[in-house]
Amino acid sequence: MVVAVKINQATFLSSAPTLNECPPPTLPEFAFIGRSNVGKSSLINLLTMRRSLAKVSETPGKTQLINFFVINNSWSLVDLPGYGYAKVSKNQRADFNEAVADFLEMRENLQHVFVLIDSRLPPQKIDVEFLRWLATTDADFSLVFTKADKQSSSKTEASVARFKREVLSELPRTPSIFVTSAETKLGRNEVLGHISKLLG
Ligand code: GTP
Ligand code: MG
Repeated sequence: MVVAVKINQATFLSSAPTLNECPPPTLPEFAFIGRSNVGKSSLINLLTMRRSLAKVSETPGKTQLINFFVINNSWSLVDLPGYGYAKVSKNQRADFNEAVADFLEMRENLQHVFVLIDSRLPPQKIDVEFLRWLATTDADFSLVFTKADKQSSSKTEASVARFKREVLSELPRTPSIFVTSAETKLGRNEVLGHISKLLG
């Protein structure tokens, strides 16, 4: 049985444009990353059951800063700007925001990264490149397949299986996998259970 953490309090703490401007690294952090529009902010709202804690938009590129939300005064959820849409960095680290790269590589209290993947799509080049890069860092990560309400569960299963076969098989580490829907609340307990386990 999955025992999810109970969220009694969820508050917005601050937004930071760069790693240097992030709040002091005191609480364990769980970050959400993925292509713009994949549903990172929506997932944070689902986990916290707060309708508009994180800002959601139909237009990709909504989240531009690193946003911190403190839960129960003891740990944090971090909403990161998406990749694949907004300003892209010119260097070769990966095709995404510099501040996000710095954060994922160097944030000392970063406990876990949830990488969101659109459950409806075949493996996207940018997600594959991002995962290859992330696997070279020390970050511990898992995958979250989002928007499962938009198609049948058999299509979602096929999509996850294809991703495992074509992408995960080449990674040095096999991440945990979650399937979620911000509409139906699917996967909420599982993701919270994972956080709970990591918090010990
Ligand atoms: P950026 O901040 O631009 O990087 O996007 P994001 O990844 O934070 O996505 P966001 O949560 O803003 O959601 C993008 C759009 O997808 C919004 O219109 C959401 O309502 C919609 N959406 C997100 N998750 C789900 C889901 O599980 N099901 C459905 N049907 N729509 C979703
Ligand atoms: Mg967002």
